[in-house]
Amino acid sequence: MQKYLSDINETNLRLPGPVPVPKDILKEQLKPLINHRGEEYKNLLLSCTKKLQKIFCTKNELYIITTSGTGVMEASISNFLSQNDEIIVVSVGWFGDRFAEIATSYNIKVRKLNFDHGQNIDIDILDEFISSYPNAKALYVTHNETSTGVQNDLELISKIAKKYSLLFVVDGISSVASVPCNTDKLGIDVLISASQKGWVTPPGLAFISVSNKAWDYHYKSNSPKYYFDISKYKNYFKKGQPPFTPAIGVMYSLDKSLNLLLEETMPKVYKRHSETAKKIRSQLIEIGFELFPIDENSASDTLTAVKVPTGISVSELINNLHKNHNVIISAGQGNLSDKIIRIGHLGLVSENEIEWLINSLLQTISV
Ligand SMILES: Cc1ncc(COP(=O)(O)O)c(C=O)c1O
Repeated sequence: MQKYLSDINETNLRLPGPVPVPKDILKEQLKPLINHRGEEYKNLLLSCTKKLQKIFCTKNELYIITTSGTGVMEASISNFLSQNDEIIVVSVGWFGDRFAEIATSYNIKVRKLNFDHGQNIDIDILDEFISSYPNAKALYVTHNETSTGVQNDLELISKIAKKYSLLFVVDGISSVASVPCNTDKLGIDVLISASQKGWVTPPGLAFISVSNKAWDYHYKSNSPKYYFDISKYKNYFKKGQPPFTPAIGVMYSLDKSLNLLLEETMPKVYKRHSETAKKIRSQLIEIGFELFPIDENSASDTLTAVKVPTGISVSELINNLHKNHNVIISAGQGNLSDKIIRIGHLGLVSENEIEWLINSLLQTISV
């Protein structure tokens, strides 16, 4: 994958997804369409699934669903829970909140533990919180909270999930393929991700891995489900098919990206992300921004959130960066929309793009 770092992009797309995708990967989508119930698609599906399992570090079953990340978030609720089940949802931001909103819409009893925006999950507080809910069945957490640029420590959290024998469900949408996330070692029962993030693939596909314990939960679940019913994906997978018409073009791109990631090797991909994140964080601090995550050790390796200095409007900053420098970044979400900016650095980020980003930001805040 790293050979594409020398690609020259006209726009410096620095969102926390979708990410810039090299032309060679985009071009895969132009291949002639094929029968998704035929032999050729079967090979594509089996090959992508096997490679995804490698990067997820799992022997668990894994399914590819044509949807965005939120689709697999919903699948991770509707497939494993029943009305009135009690679950623990930990939220450090907007996407943690989303788990709680989806679960509530399925009439699940959500016991929500909130941490201040900018903070990561405190293990002792989590431990104490869960101990008050002996009937809770599952623990839902966000690995990398894209709304605040905070990364949670899954190793510590996994010990708590194990201690209370909870079904362990992780949103790894903006982390998997960019930072280490070993499903089997951490005992993650359900892990989800989506193609437009570190997978360096266009949006449109999402992934869900399912442990044996999660299957037990699934067979007992009475929540309504249809498109996202993983039993359908399981049954069709036996024939080498998806249950519904897939995004064939995106699958071709995904296959190419997975080959490139595995060719580079995942330890190198993770190292590249960690080094890029360090560089961007330190240069942003150097030009006068303050990190939004309270503890720098919990700052994400896939995006950086910084506070915008007083007197500077987030929307003007973002508009001017785009208009004058062709650099695209994100504002905060919800009540952070006029307080922070978020800069994505997952996938491919060249030295040139870092320099371009920092110089453009410096010029924009200096005028
Ligand atoms: C951590 C996390 N969870 C969930 C989502 C939702 O994904 P989507 O916008 O693809 O539905 C995102 C997207 O940014 C995310 O970063």
